[in-house]
Amino acid sequence: MTQGILYGIGVGPGDPDFITLKAVKILSQVDMVFAASAAKNSHSQAVEIAKPHLKAGVPIQILPFPMTRDKLVMEAAWQDNAGTVIKVLEQGKNTAFITLGDCMTYSTYGYVIKQIQKLAPHIEICSIPGITSYQAAAARINTPLVEGEQSLVLLSGVTGGDKFRELSNRADNVVFLKAYKNAADIAKALDEAGLADKSVGIVKCGLEGEQIISNMNVFQEKKPDYWTLIISKKSGHCVENEKKTE
Ligand SMILES: C[S@@+](CC[C@H](N)C(=O)[O-])C[C@H]1O[C@@H](n2cnc3c(N)ncnc32)[C@H](O)[C@@H]1O
Repeated sequence: MTQGILYGIGVGPGDPDFITLKAVKILSQVDMVFAASAAKNSHSQAVEIAKPHLKAGVPIQILPFPMTRDKLVMEAAWQDNAGTVIKVLEQGKNTAFITLGDCMTYSTYGYVIKQIQKLAPHIEICSIPGITSYQAAAARINTPLVEGEQSLVLLSGVTGGDKFRELSNRADNVVFLKAYKNAADIAKALDEAGLADKSVGIVKCGLEGEQIISNMNVFQEKKPDYWTLIISKKSGHCVENEKKTE
């Protein structure tokens, strides 16, 4: 029997219309769908976006990925989940692994395909990119991410502002994803660099409860939602004309 093809699909960051035509086409053809979620939480925003495009009755399985920095625990989860996906592919089923935003940007899918390439190199993998959260956020506030000869640095905010402190004067534009956990330290680092009033936080972009936060003090006072990113621009933002929440 021939194996199924694994399609990694980025379904966009939240707005159900921000999904590509290619993703919609493939979702309408697959026999099985996997999505990732934190082990203690079985809800998947990616599933909500993908559902209307699936064939009727297609099974959807949420794979648990523990939110931990323990490498051994994480690797065990990647391996287990890759094994589950391989089993379905070996039955000849074309399978989608869906992720929010782009599947190649800070995504569990990246870890899973590395395991699949190692454990089952014969499996064909086809990755379909999606609109990233920060592209959608920049569009939402009508602010270009980069222009002319400018640079853009993409950072994970999980460990706070330290990576930014190392780079602060080198990049023209900085985007922090996963800004929620250590938002206070990120806000502090931006303030130290004189960029607090040139930074905007976008919470739940395109989702219910969306917020645009241009006062970085808000992040010093209260930890924001998981769906939070910050765009910082040396040249400043055009957010003045947009609907600011804070
Ligand atoms: C694990 S990363 C996934 C990134 C995603 N693959 C992408 O292409 O944007 C999760 C982080 O992405 C950002 N994010 C994703 N969707 C978002 C949204 N709708 N609004 C604001 N931030 C979002 C947040 O910073 C969140 O903590």
